[in-house]
Amino acid sequence: MHHTQLSTALQHPGPRNLVFEDRHPALTDSRQELLAGLLEAEKSIPPKFFYDDYGSRLFEQITRLPEYYPTRTEERVLRSRAGEIAEVAGQGSILLEPGCGSCRKVRLLLQALRPAVFVPQDISADFLRRTAIELAAENPWLKVHALCSDFTRPGGMPTNLPAGRRILFYPGSTIGNMDPQAAAAFLDRWRRWVGPEGGMILGVDRHKDTARLEAAYNDARGITAEFNLHLIDRINSLLEGQLRRTDFRHMAFYDSVKRRIEMHLLCLREHEAALGGQLVSFRAGERIHTENSWKYTPDSLARLADRASLAVRRTWSDPEELFSVCYLEPLH
Ligand code: AVJ
Repeated sequence: MHHTQLSTALQHPGPRNLVFEDRHPALTDSRQELLAGLLEAEKSIPPKFFYDDYGSRLFEQITRLPEYYPTRTEERVLRSRAGEIAEVAGQGSILLEPGCGSCRKVRLLLQALRPAVFVPQDISADFLRRTAIELAAENPWLKVHALCSDFTRPGGMPTNLPAGRRILFYPGSTIGNMDPQAAAAFLDRWRRWVGPEGGMILGVDRHKDTARLEAAYNDARGITAEFNLHLIDRINSLLEGQLRRTDFRHMAFYDSVKRRIEMHLLCLREHEAALGGQLVSFRAGERIHTENSWKYTPDSLARLADRASLAVRRTWSDPEELFSVCYLEPLH
């Protein structure tokens, strides 16, 4: 790739094999989005607001909790099946990971997949910068093109990439944050981005017994509660508010019919708050819906793929079938 062709927004902050493209995901748009959710009859906050620098670090802590099985289970599957995954996904591709966080998982595949370019994409600029510098330094053979953008918005899609077979890597069951219709639309959009010859490596958390699932979102150390309550700080800083954490409580439960974990902030006291120039009232017992985490069966995943004109070609799971890594390809 000729870096000279790329826009001036690109920076070379360290290793020579690293390009950092900052699209400056607009804070004003985010503020509007956050406030709009709080003005709804049923208040909600899009889960991307968890992931500022502190929130991203809290999530890293969650992934190491004894109750939170998804990360370590998925990592075991990726580690033990890297060769098989590379056999179907191929080598030398343009590999992209939206919402890459710490890039811990892709490291388990890099040696097997040997991509020509890796594109870590995230909304959190500082966190992404540190991650990308580390990754490029660790793998001098690899071209890293880091992209700071909001992929939920039109201007957030990667461009400026060299030709080659495109593979999307979307681990961690992040797809579970979206309701099935949004997930299908998301996969459909990325199907068009990878093209007919491309593929997707997807990590998906599976439907299982309620106790196991609920423990994973109500850990004994209270890190998930801290992660959830941190949204109160996010509201305060983005909307110049004065909400108090002590007026809210972390809440997470599994709806086994919808097959989703729901996270909420339960309001404990009736009060009003000025947020972003608007007066917002909170009732005691009212909830702010902060996250859904959908869980899939092999059947429901196949249906999801089909709605996005994709097919699940391979599935790898752990012996307990807690978590799956799947390889998907466009139907035609
Ligand atoms: C990053 C969306 C996969 O749903 O398990 C962890 C986020 N929330 N604990 C998940 C999360 C609370 C996580 N995902």
